[in-house]
Amino acid sequence: MENKKLYIETYGCQMNVSDTEVIFAILGRHGYERTENIEEADIILANTCSIRDNAEQRVWGRIDYFHTYKKQHPEVIVGIVGCMAERLGDQLIKGDKVDIVAGPDAYKTLPDLLEHLASGHPQINVKLSKEETYAEITPVRTDKNGVSAFISIMRGCNNLCSYCVVPYTRGIERSRDPHSIVREACDVFHKGYKEVTLLGQNVDSYCWKNGEETVDFADLLKMVAEIDPRLRVRYSTSHPKDISDKVIETMAQYENICRHIHLPVQSGSNAMLEKMRRRYTREWYLDRVRKIKSLMPDCNITTDIIAGFCGETEQDHQDTLNLMKEVGYDYAFMFQYSERPGTLAARHYPDDISPEVKTRRLNEIIELQNQLSLESNERDLGKIFKVLVEGPSKKNANELCGRASNNKMCVFPDTEHKAGDYVDVKVIECTSATLICERV
Ligand code: 5AD
Ligand code: SF4
Repeated sequence: MENKKLYIETYGCQMNVSDTEVIFAILGRHGYERTENIEEADIILANTCSIRDNAEQRVWGRIDYFHTYKKQHPEVIVGIVGCMAERLGDQLIKGDKVDIVAGPDAYKTLPDLLEHLASGHPQINVKLSKEETYAEITPVRTDKNGVSAFISIMRGCNNLCSYCVVPYTRGIERSRDPHSIVREACDVFHKGYKEVTLLGQNVDSYCWKNGEETVDFADLLKMVAEIDPRLRVRYSTSHPKDISDKVIETMAQYENICRHIHLPVQSGSNAMLEKMRRRYTREWYLDRVRKIKSLMPDCNITTDIIAGFCGETEQDHQDTLNLMKEVGYDYAFMFQYSERPGTLAARHYPDDISPEVKTRRLNEIIELQNQLSLESNERDLGKIFKVLVEGPSKKNANELCGRASNNKMCVFPDTEHKAGDYVDVKVIECTSATLICERV
């Protein structure tokens, strides 16, 4: 019998990209073959995100599309997996549009769920687990260029930030066996990958205990960095309350741990940080930034910011803007607050900032960040960076693009090198998004 073809659309974060690779591996073992062409698919899955309402609205739009598509292809199976599956469960099955619903800890049961569809009923598994880390699954890589691989090091989150749905959709925090992480990193390196990104909701609380052995995040970073100096190590996401001196010192010791920390601040106002249950203050955050910059002056710091959280005053907003200037962020992801059902904020604080004010504040934040990003890039003019080539630049086939250690995208004329090569370049011009370079 011919293999069934599996098509997966991925929404949301890098963690979801990594989970999609785990799903391909699990179903691959059961004879389901990956396709990138929906027209060929026997099974269509959407790996979904619930972080903001607009992320969910996009998926509802896709569900309607799949429903229409199924009218012409009645044998196709449609499944919703990931955070939205976890959050909405059997609500997704109403209207007979979806056949399978599986939450983030239920992917090993997908082969059974598919088999049980023969009963004629939709299948759901949204059980969360305290242990599942998919440690022993070798993901099927879905990246385009074979240069950079995601490796999930932990799952879930225990922080309970008041605005955030993740603890409810991904369950409690659990760390993956470090030896399986190192094995996976070695394996991708030997397959030709040059960069790994270690993923977790809060990597700084990574902790593995086994008998006498305790491995924290700094130890893990060291273990992965020591695989080979030609393997670059990145990670995401840090939590300002937990990022330790030991982690910062470990980064500084290894040149192949990239000079970039994604350190989501969310707000510059202590009143908002308290209400968000972030458990740090503006002062604490700025101290962490100082520590990073004192050991690694060339380390880029990027962030996430939420505009218009419950009760945010004009002064709170100004505090965010002036904190952004004080840190001088190199890049930021910026959002309007979106109330998520069931979260602490939804239960305790009215979503009382009008859409107009949220939009205006967000626009001010974006405008400031564009200026800060440009200034950050201008500071790099004349510097020499080692770029890991990702492939031809989008605009010009005679140019290559790739990232510097600090995560900035560099483009430069070059027809000799290829994806996976390291090339030294000098920055000669820039925009707010890109460094324009020449080979040295
Ligand atoms: N509304 C808006 N942004 C949110 N984020 C998380 N939850 C919400 C929400 N309810 C943002 C945070 C987080 C990033 C991944 O998404 O900034 O760091
Ligand atoms: Fe990722 Fe959070 Fe979206 Fe889930 S809700 S997919 S954890 S960003």
